[in-house]
Order: sequence, then structure tokens, then C-alpha cells
Amino acid sequence: MDDFELLKRKIMRARGFNCNCYKESSLKRRIRIRMNANNIHSYSEYIKFLTGNEEEYDKLIDTLTVNVTEFFRDPETYDKINVIVLPELTSRKRKEGRKIIRIWCAGCASGEEPYSIAILLREYLGDKIDDFIIFIRATDIDEKSLELARKGEYKSDVLKNMKKYFIRKYFERINDSYRIKDSIRNMVRFEKHDIISGKAQRYFDLILCRNVLIYLSRDTQRDIFEMFHRALNNKGYLIIGKTETMHEQMANKFELIDLSERIYRKIS
Ligand SMILES: C[S@@+](CC[C@H](N)C(=O)[O-])C[C@H]1O[C@@H](n2cnc3c(N)ncnc32)[C@H](O)[C@@H]1O
Repeated sequence: MDDFELLKRKIMRARGFNCNCYKESSLKRRIRIRMNANNIHSYSEYIKFLTGNEEEYDKLIDTLTVNVTEFFRDPETYDKINVIVLPELTSRKRKEGRKIIRIWCAGCASGEEPYSIAILLREYLGDKIDDFIIFIRATDIDEKSLELARKGEYKSDVLKNMKKYFIRKYFERINDSYRIKDSIRNMVRFEKHDIISGKAQRYFDLILCRNVLIYLSRDTQRDIFEMFHRALNNKGYLIIGKTETMHEQMANKFELIDLSERIYRKIS
């Protein structure tokens, strides 16, 4: 077994991060970042350096998980959710006499995406918000990101693309940060969950998994599309990142609703 394989096994054993499911090229690039930062030139040297070095493990996992995110990232996607997904979903729920709407943000990083969805829903429903019981489950494998998400406090530069009106309405100023108000925070529940190996999920009306699949191998992506298919209610929506693509073997299980925003709907 070569040193790269040994390193992957070591990371899996120590932190449960299954490197084999991620694309090798991006994995190597990211491990190289940590090696360079420590002036290390071979995988075998890095294996030694990692042994018993919890701080370096933390930094490595941080680098491997890529936690970049934004409030209302790709605003055109949120526009389409607003004009296509929410009208159809809420009118179907009303017709069926159902009040519960369940949403899953898989790979939510520090919370900007689930909070954006919660804001979008509040804005869309206005004073009809109490017609529905809304659960937003936001999950990630990275505990550090989840901690930030639960805290819900952001520096002003994080809010730079957000409408001023939303900032005034949904955030309160705390020293030099902005804290998300409870009306939004209480709609979201954060939980650690690995989309590769985590417990099966059920009964979602909308799943967002954006800018996560891109780091995973194509076979792993297919398994995850299958898992999302099972996790969705009939006619439930799946939204992936704008640069991500549906797996060809799963294309007949999802109806394409909007190509540019990668919005799909479950065909049962
Ligand atoms: C680039 S961020 C995307 C955040 C957000 N969805 C967005 O589009 O702005 C990718 C997130 O996926 C998470 N992630 C990576 N592998 C994962 C896995 N196997 N299960 C759950 N989350 C994962 C990372 O920890 C990271 O927070």
C-alpha cells in the first residue's frame, strides 16, 4: 500500500472522514495545502507529523471540508425557489390539507443557507406563516461549522450581499456582529450528519445539497442521489449546486424543473 493510501486510512480511523468517497484530485490538492503550511514534502512525513497531533487533525479536516458559504448564495436560485417551488409546494399542501413542511439543508456549513431559506419562507408566507408548521433540518459533518451556525452571529462583511431590509428585519446588532433573530433561528435545527454514511432520512418536501457533491466521487454522488430520492416525499424537490450535475443513472428518477438553478423533483 502506498503512503497516500496509508494517510487516507489514518484520517478515516482518527476522524471518521472517508477520503475514498472524495475526488482524489481535490483531496490531494487540499492535503498538499496542509503539508506546505508545515513545510512537509512527503505523505510519509505528514503521517508522522499527524500522529498524536490533534490540532493538525483539526486543521486538516477544516481544509478538507471546504466551508465556504454565503447568505443567499446564487440569488437567482432563491428567486426560482420563490417563484416555482414555494407556490407549488404550499398550494399542494393546502389542497391536501397538510400543514407540515420539512426541508433539509445537507452540508449547511456555518448556517447561512438554512437561515436564508427560513428568511425566504417568512417573506413568502408573510402573515400566513402560521398556516404551516415548518421544520428546517440543517446538517454537516463539520462540528466547528455547526457550532458557528447554532450561534448565528455574523460579522458585517458576511452580510454584505444581503438586502438592508432583511438585515434590519431579521438580525440584531451585538457589538460588531449581527445575530439572527429567534423567529428565524427557531425554524432551523442543526445536527451533525454525514451524507455518505449517516442515518437514513425520510419525509422531506425540499432538500438542498449545494456545493457539496462536487467534492465527491461520481459513484458516491450516485449513492447520495439515491439516498435523497428515498428521503423525499412524492413530488419533493431536490436542489443541487449550479456547477453540479445529476447522475445519469438517477436522471429517470427526478424530473428536471429548472436546469440553470439545478432544481429537480422526485418521480416516484
Ligand atoms: C462549500 S460548503 C457548502 C455550503 C452551502 N451548502 C452552500 O452552498 O453555500 C460544503 C459543506 O459540505 C460539508 N460536507 C462535506 N462532506 C460532507 C459529508 N460527507 N456530509 C455532510 N456534509 C459534508 C462541509 O463540511 C461543508 O460545510
